[in-house]
Amino acid sequence: MAAAADHDVPMISMRAVNKHFGDLHVLKDIDLEVRRGEVIVVLGPSGSGKSTLCRTINRLEPIDSGTITIDGQELPAEGRQLAELRSDVGMVFQSFNLFAHKTILDNVALAPTKVRKTPKERARTEAMALLERVGVANQADKYPAQLSGGQQQRVAIARSLAMNPKVMLFDEPTSALDPEMINEVLAVMSALADGGMTMLVITHEMGFARRAADRVVFMSDGAIVEDAPPEEFFSRPKTDRAKDFLGKILNH
Ligand SMILES: Nc1ncnc2c1ncn2[C@@H]1O[C@H](COP(=O)(O)OP(=O)(O)OP(=O)(O)O)[C@@H](O)[C@H]1O
Ligand SMILES: [Mg+2]
Repeated sequence: MAAAADHDVPMISMRAVNKHFGDLHVLKDIDLEVRRGEVIVVLGPSGSGKSTLCRTINRLEPIDSGTITIDGQELPAEGRQLAELRSDVGMVFQSFNLFAHKTILDNVALAPTKVRKTPKERARTEAMALLERVGVANQADKYPAQLSGGQQQRVAIARSLAMNPKVMLFDEPTSALDPEMINEVLAVMSALADGGMTMLVITHEMGFARRAADRVVFMSDGAIVEDAPPEEFFSRPKTDRAKDFLGKILNH
């Protein structure tokens, strides 16, 4: 498709996106463009709509109005096409959600064999290479419960990558981890970013935001109120809401 090959087409485009949960207006006229290879860190107080924003991008949450495109293609409402487009968008959550009764290798090889019909042997070879990449290849035959939280989260990242996504979304991927495991997960994410992956990351890790983000998007009450490079956002936030947020998070 012409649009897909055009490098000027944003990887993610949200235009005038609105969403309500009942009476609650959770996404208010969201306009957001993420270019190919860009890393966006989304910040904002609890309840500001960060997770909802993330979930609308692959239609885990339907929107009320507006448009969302991935690599130039609008998300279909349902059906096979949605499944295909959704697999272009990898997502990693706070909880790892690995299949408990499957080995680490099988966790990573499963979706490519089931969804993409990749032959089993090839899927396993590719899964092994991904486990290598996230540094847990030596755990391939274990079950999730036998791994540390940090290792499990790296497997979850490998599992998403196995579908060859165009975009990776992360919703607080390190929030459930013990402090000593946070860095190993952030290191995998930084390597992905350096490798050119387009990423949207919700995180409270300000060091990661400063180092890895091309832009920081700050949300408050369902709206994007700031969108700036990290050095600008952290040193010269424009709104009182961002100043207040940074005051709390940086002095804490
Ligand atoms: N399924 C749902 N049904 C009803 N309300 C919801 C639902 N999911 C989220 N909300 C509400 O929508 C608002 C935005 O929630 P969201 O989870 O997107 O915030 P967040 O910025 O990710 O917060 P946190 O930092 O706590 O994760 C909140 O007021 C929340 O209570
Ligand atoms: Mg959230």
